[in-house]
Amino acid sequence: DFPRKVSIVEVGPRDGLQNEAVILSTEDKIDLVNQLANAGLKRIETGSFVSPRWVPQMADSADVFAGIVRHPGVVYSALTPNLQGLEAAINAKADEVAVFASASESFSRKNINCSISESLARFKPVLAEAKNVGIKVRGYVSCVLGCPYEGYVDPVSVASVTAELISMGCYEVSLGDTTGVGTPLATGNLIEKVTGVVPVNMLAAHFHDTYGQALTNLVIALQHGITTIDSSVAGLGGCPYANGAEGNVATEDVVYMLAGMGIETGVNLEAVIAAGKTISQKLERQPSSRVSREWVSH
Ligand code: HMG
Ligand code: MG
Repeated sequence: DFPRKVSIVEVGPRDGLQNEAVILSTEDKIDLVNQLANAGLKRIETGSFVSPRWVPQMADSADVFAGIVRHPGVVYSALTPNLQGLEAAINAKADEVAVFASASESFSRKNINCSISESLARFKPVLAEAKNVGIKVRGYVSCVLGCPYEGYVDPVSVASVTAELISMGCYEVSLGDTTGVGTPLATGNLIEKVTGVVPVNMLAAHFHDTYGQALTNLVIALQHGITTIDSSVAGLGGCPYANGAEGNVATEDVVYMLAGMGIETGVNLEAVIAAGKTISQKLERQPSSRVSREWVSH
């Protein structure tokens, strides 16, 4: 059985742009976010309040938040690894924030410079303060189907980090196949393990298309009852600490597939294609979306 409706979380302005070599102007980032909201996307990851030495592409996130036209009903979110990030997100009037952990120890060290358990301890004050000020917190788990440094990742570790994030107060956890190595049966097995400890309506699927498996794996996620999907316009980006992790699944491809399956998203495909083409031109690249490349307006 498939759901009637799916909620798409557009991560292009953050997960996408953080990994693009070309650093865009603040104005271009603002235009992108506005175009995505106009296309009907209701959840847009707009920026990241992390160390600008680690991720220079996100150094102007406060200015991006200040410049966007806020659409009623659209949630503009930001990544916040610690209290300093949360304070910045609150000042920028982010509607929602996200903390990010990993299911692999080596990836945790490379990405946020601490162990998994240290990272979870660091998120506790972030979750407490966010609760204080009434901001919802999403959790991410990276490397859920494999790690660029360790290879195999045990689904049991993914389940336990996910459960920990939920018990700390995250309202949703996004399962990131950061390097796109997952295949359908592994994806199904992972979701079965995780839903053994966390309700499926608190999970999101965050898949990368590095190996061309993302849509197939998403169908498996839908069949397992996941109704929140992360995607990135034009397939932008990935993660700078995961070699070869470029290529979040493209929003255009996800919207096309879901529309074909009769699943409602509220997103206008042609408008997302246009947003993807505009941003790709500015980045001097092609949209990775096959739908975008083949699309002919009717
Ligand atoms: P650190 O260097 O280990 O430790 O950074 P620190 O806390 O001692 O901070 C060092 C410096 O960073 C200090 O500045 C702090 O002020 C500054 P200095 O005194 O040296 O000039 N700093 C900050 N600046 C701005 N905003 C902040 C902040 N915090 C500290 N919030 C830290 C630890 C976590 C900050 C660092 O490692 C970091 O920023 N990492 C970011 C990594 C990142 O953004 N990765 C990409 C996102 S995760 C991802 O893409 C995967 C995901 O998409 C899922 C998927 O795709 O699968 C979620
Ligand atoms: Mg990603």
